[in-house]
Amino acid sequence: MLTITDLTAGYGRLTALKGIDLTVAKGEIVFVVGPNGAGKSTLLKTVAGLMTPFSGSIRFHHADIAGMAPEKLSREGLVLVPEGRSIFRTLTVEENLALGGMGRRDRDVLESDLEAVLTTFPILRSRYRGVAGHLSGGEQQQLAIARAILQQPALIMIDEPSLGLAPLVIDQVYESLRALNRENGMTLLIVEQSTARILDLADRVYVLRNGHIVLSGPAAELAGGRQLEEAYFGYEAG
Ligand SMILES: Nc1ncnc2c1ncn2[C@@H]1O[C@H](COP(=O)(O)OP(=O)(O)O)[C@@H](O)[C@H]1O
Ligand SMILES: [Mg+2]
Repeated sequence: MLTITDLTAGYGRLTALKGIDLTVAKGEIVFVVGPNGAGKSTLLKTVAGLMTPFSGSIRFHHADIAGMAPEKLSREGLVLVPEGRSIFRTLTVEENLALGGMGRRDRDVLESDLEAVLTTFPILRSRYRGVAGHLSGGEQQQLAIARAILQQPALIMIDEPSLGLAPLVIDQVYESLRALNRENGMTLLIVEQSTARILDLADRVYVLRNGHIVLSGPAAELAGGRQLEEAYFGYEAG
């Protein structure tokens, strides 16, 4: 579904991504983990069309999308939930969700999609007429994800969904992501700074450090070993 080949990107003279190769297949949950400053947000912003790559190719459904405008990409089914959630705090939950469905003409399907996200995220139903700024961090994260879903994406990219959340709340958010994947077939590309909880949810993992992919593999193969930590912290092998 998404194939990134030899991607280089950055800011002016700073090269933040150096020769990235990464794929996401339909139905997969893929995580990119790496320390602060590794280039995780740059990667998602570049794929989402918010930055133009220096070189390399990004193919989505076999079309080259490098440099394509973000609005066009979201219409093509590629949606980013950016870091910091970007919900409208002064609007209600209902209004925030309506923005996700904006531009859709299939009103009936939209109604049932809305019903489905309110079932996946029950807290949003109980706070439906409340102001989004009054939701807790985890609830705001769920609202941001729910709004993205209503854009009917084929692929949702999420920048640090666990950022600033308590461990129990992270579990809840991850549980809802798992349900979206299992029950709705949603494909997910998620970046996180912490490796702590990802292996249960991930199909495959990439470790990004200093703009390079230093390790990648199926989560099942990385679980239980020290490989992931060693790549993350940059220990020499052996
Ligand atoms: N807007 C920006 N302008 C210049 N440099 C930036 C900007 N955003 C990020 N960087 C730099 O790019 C590198 C990667 O940053 P980022 O992608 O935000 O990392 P991560 O999301 O993994 O923490 C870092 O060296 C960071 O300082
Ligand atoms: Mg970041």
